[in-house]
Amino acid sequence: MKSVLSSKSGGEADKYVSDGEVIDVGGLKLEVRETPGHTDGCVSYVEHTLKSVFTGDALLIRKCGRTDFQQGNSSTLYDSVHKKIFTLPEDYVIYVGHDYDGVLQTSVWEEKNLNPRLTKSKEEFVEFMKNMKLDYPKQIDKAVPANMKDGKEYSI
Ligand SMILES: [Fe+2]
Repeated sequence: MKSVLSSKSGGEADKYVSDGEVIDVGGLKLEVRETPGHTDGCVSYVEHTLKSVFTGDALLIRKCGRTDFQQGNSSTLYDSVHKKIFTLPEDYVIYVGHDYDGVLQTSVWEEKNLNPRLTKSKEEFVEFMKNMKLDYPKQIDKAVPANMKDGKEYSI
């Protein structure tokens, strides 16, 4: 097994996963939780023994993935984080996909209480995300097609 993607991603992979499935990766038992909203294919992986969750770009430290391109949907992202991440025990450690700013991990408690975006109401969150006006990423037109083919053809 070289690459794993959500069955809802539309990309090419050696293995596809869906919500609730548990996969074994080098002895780690990873529970798949579908967390769409940044993209349709975003999943988070929970390792209960280590009390850890890997959230990719769905939830970042005091931020979240953008929702203004690809299949982004801020209402869906809000529900994903609140229903699939914030329902985990509050001491679970969160490892995110990027934007570390020197901080490598956070926790369910911290993001539930301190994330300035996700502590808003859903309506406020949707409005906030709509008004972000972020720059279009320089490499996105190359990166997305490459990611859909397991990333092998991508080079900057
Ligand atoms: Fe992303």
